Amino acid sequence: MSILRTERLSRNFGGLMAVNNVSIAVEAGERRAIIGPNGAGKTTFFNLLSGELRPLSGHIFLDEREITPLPPHQRARLGIGRTFQRNNLFLGLTVYENIQLAVQQRLGLASRWLRPARTFEDLDREVVGLATTLGLEGRLFEPAGSLSYGEQRQLEIALALAMRPRVLLLDEPTAGMSPAETAKMVQMIAGLPRDVTLLIIEHDMDVVFSLADRITVLHYGQVIADGVPEEVKGNPKVLEVYLGEA
Ligand SMILES: Nc1ncnc2c1ncn2[C@@H]1O[C@H](COP(=O)(O)OP(=O)(O)OP(=O)(O)O)[C@@H](O)[C@H]1O
Ligand SMILES: [Mg+2]
Repeated sequence: MSILRTERLSRNFGGLMAVNNVSIAVEAGERRAIIGPNGAGKTTFFNLLSGELRPLSGHIFLDEREITPLPPHQRARLGIGRTFQRNNLFLGLTVYENIQLAVQQRLGLASRWLRPARTFEDLDREVVGLATTLGLEGRLFEPAGSLSYGEQRQLEIALALAMRPRVLLLDEPTAGMSPAETAKMVQMIAGLPRDVTLLIIEHDMDVVFSLADRITVLHYGQVIADGVPEEVKGNPKVLEVYLGEA
C-alpha cells in the first residue's frame, strides 16, 4: 500500500498547466526525488500535496484516505510535513528554543486526552535528540541568527521533524549551499529514520543519485519518467530534456 498517492492531479495558473495529470505512488519509507527543469511544476506539486494550493482536478491520498479537500493544518496533523524556501526560524532565539517551540506546537495540536504527560526531561531529550539528528548538538545555545546558512537549513529540517511527519517534503534542501555544506546536508538526510518517507525536489544530480530510491521526472507539469535511478538515467526522454537544456 502506498503511503502517499496522487491520481491525475492537475493545477493551472490561468492558461498554464503547471501540474498536468500527475499520478504517482510513494511507498512508506521510500526516498523519492522529484526532478525536472526550472518551471517544470515541482514546487507547485508540493504545494498541492501540503494543501497550500488547491488542485484544478485530481485526488491526493495519504494511506489511501483522500485528503484532497483538507486544509494545510489538517494535512500537517495527519502527517504531511514540509520545509519552506522562505526562512521560518526565530533568529533571535536559540537552536534549543526554536526546536522546543516546534515540539510544543505539536503537543498543543494533539487532542487533550491523547496528549501524553510530558516531563521536562522528556521534552529536553526530544529537543536534544532532534538537534543531534541534524548535526546541531554543538550549537544548541547559539541564536539561530548566528548559524551559517547551511546550519539554518538543517535547523529548518529539525523543526519540520518536530511535528513527527510521516511524509516530509523537502524543496531543494541544498539550494545555495557550498559543496561542503551540501555534503553535510546529504549525510543528514541519508541518516534520517526510515519511518519518515521523503520526497525531495533537487537539482543537484549527485545529491539525487546518492539519496533517491526512485525518481520522478516532471517536464511542463507532466511525468515523463518514473523509476529507479538506473532506469531514469537511461530514459531517452529524460536525456532529451536535460541534454536539450544544456
Ligand atoms: N503563483 C503563481 N502564479 C502564476 N504562475 C505560477 C505561480 N507559481 C508557479 N507558476 C508557474 O507555474 C510553473 C511551474 O512553477 P513551479 O514553481 O512549480 O516550478 P518548479 O519546477 O518548482 O521550478 P524551479 O526548479 O525553478 O523551482 C512555472 O511556469 C511558473 O512560472
Ligand atoms: Mg521550485
